[in-house]
Amino acid sequence: MSLFLIVPAAGSGSRLRRPEPKALVPLSGRPMLSWTLEALAEIPFETTVVAAPPEQKTEFERLCGERAVVVAGGETRAASVRAAFHSLRWSKDDVVCIHDAARPFVTASEAARIIDEAQRRGAAIAATSIVDTIKKVQENGVIGTLDRTGLFAAGTPQAFRADLLAEVLATGRESTDEAGLFELAGLPVSVVVISRFGFKITHPEDLEIAEALLKKKSE
Ligand code: CTP
Ligand code: MG
Repeated sequence: MSLFLIVPAAGSGSRLRRPEPKALVPLSGRPMLSWTLEALAEIPFETTVVAAPPEQKTEFERLCGERAVVVAGGETRAASVRAAFHSLRWSKDDVVCIHDAARPFVTASEAARIIDEAQRRGAAIAATSIVDTIKKVQENGVIGTLDRTGLFAAGTPQAFRADLLAEVLATGRESTDEAGLFELAGLPVSVVVISRFGFKITHPEDLEIAEALLKKKSE
């Protein structure tokens, strides 16, 4: 059994409003992608594939060095994952872990739990419980309150048995995450609750939070 890691890093980070692609935005002086790769470095992945913005492929290659193979990403996260997956030479019992470059505070032990679960059950995802009351809003007005029971926020890592991932990707269906394709196919997806440090750096204030966390870690 081999383990593979796919890191979608091809997004521009439009909500972050920075000139460089989000994965290259420095955190404590080093690109976000470096922190993310380092966080999972102790897991013995056979190959790590980073999906990069096509125009910056060379720059990403230089940054990744021996740590990862770089492929050109696509227009959407799903397309980037697809491109990375198609570059892999997997066999039946292998497991593919997918983790966003924009989530540098994941821990290797969280990823390991998700990978274990995927090996056993076929598919597993990181999730956190929803702490806020979720409102349905239209034109700045509330039109309803969702029942929070059983609601979780799904993130990454997500891990899948390679043969099953190949099968659901081949359906050509669309979903914002790969687990969604398993759901559409009627396949089970396990949930592993991880810490809230697994947040995705999305908005400018998330960078401030990230910097503060790294400062605290370095002390
Ligand atoms: N991603 C990707 N290819 C894309 C879009 C996104 O590989 N075409 C990656 C991002 O680089 C990121 C992860 O998917 O690591 C999660 O996406 P998100 O946080 O939405 O990043 P961006 O799409 O870059 O940000 P925004 O939506 O604000 O533009
Ligand atoms: Mg996006």
